[in-house]
Amino acid sequence: MTQTSTRTAQLDPLHIDASVIAEAAAILRRGGLVAFPTETVYGLGANALDPAAVARIFEAKGRPSRNPIIVHVADAARARTLTTSWPGSAEMLATRFWPGPLTLILPKNSAMPDIVTGGGPNVGLRAPAQPIAQALLQAAGLPVAAPSANRSTELSPTTAQHVVHSLGGRVELVLDGGSTTVGIESTVVDLTSNPPRILRPGPIGIAQLESCIGTVLPGLPTPHGDESPLAAPGLMARHYAPRATLILASGGGLEEVRRLVSRGHRVGWLVFADVSGTRLPGVSIVPMPANAEDFAVHLYAVLHRLDAAGVETIVVARLPDTPQWTAVRDRLTRAATA
Ligand code: TXA
Ligand code: MG
Repeated sequence: MTQTSTRTAQLDPLHIDASVIAEAAAILRRGGLVAFPTETVYGLGANALDPAAVARIFEAKGRPSRNPIIVHVADAARARTLTTSWPGSAEMLATRFWPGPLTLILPKNSAMPDIVTGGGPNVGLRAPAQPIAQALLQAAGLPVAAPSANRSTELSPTTAQHVVHSLGGRVELVLDGGSTTVGIESTVVDLTSNPPRILRPGPIGIAQLESCIGTVLPGLPTPHGDESPLAAPGLMARHYAPRATLILASGGGLEEVRRLVSRGHRVGWLVFADVSGTRLPGVSIVPMPANAEDFAVHLYAVLHRLDAAGVETIVVARLPDTPQWTAVRDRLTRAATA
């Protein structure tokens, strides 16, 4: 692909420099790519209504063309203009959870180019809450197609540095708003099926969704092979993966770590317990929060850091078996499918 020089602009989410946002909006309007922070992960944005601009996203990411891209809008009023139907469930979920980490799948209208939806009839819509993302969407006055700002199958970025590391030379401008506050990708809910179905578990759990719209199906189990059909398009098994091999331990992980160390591996070990008394040469021990939300905030940054440190294998202590951990477990199961 054509290399471009990547510029990074730092922005304070509490005092956003309008001239930088205006420049970013101008890049989007002329068909260029801008990476920007959302509350979940950084997105790689293009004008969703410009098929040539969206094609640049696929090229920059090395993304399979059948994998549809989420379209970001400022609010529900703008989302409605991109669909042929806006059911009561969409209205209720948008009222309760937007702006926020929730993507709604709805029938697209003819304004939306096929390339955005992977050729399918439905579009994924999300109004992000992050103030820089909001400012950009309002200044651009466009729906912005934006997958996570990483090369396909790599880890999602939670800092601007992650974006530059993965996509440097492939994106014109990176808006640096610091670390993202949620840390894992949005919940994706298909409202074209009845009852609605979760296509990707995320920060908003099934109990929250059901308290708003009634029965929601929990979706398909996390696939264990790359052969899984694209019924939930793009939900390929190997996704969100670090370079290192990732192992989900059946207990605390000490046995797995000892075995790997004895074979001379450099190991990263994500733990909940205090293991400071354990002497393990060549092991990077990372204490993780015992709360699922906080764990999610740090997860990708920790995996990026261990990759950068040259760790060969990452062992993760067994996660609590409660619904709060569904989204984190999903991401780690995918990352462990190599
Ligand atoms: O939090 C997020 O959702 C981030 C930020 C940037 O908004 N975006 C993100 O995009 O994670 P991406 O492309 O990495 O993942 C989008 C997921 C994919 O699994 C894709 O298959 C699904 O959403 N998706 C998007 N549009 C869809 C559609 N029309 N039908 C079914 N699934 C769709
Ligand atoms: Mg992604």
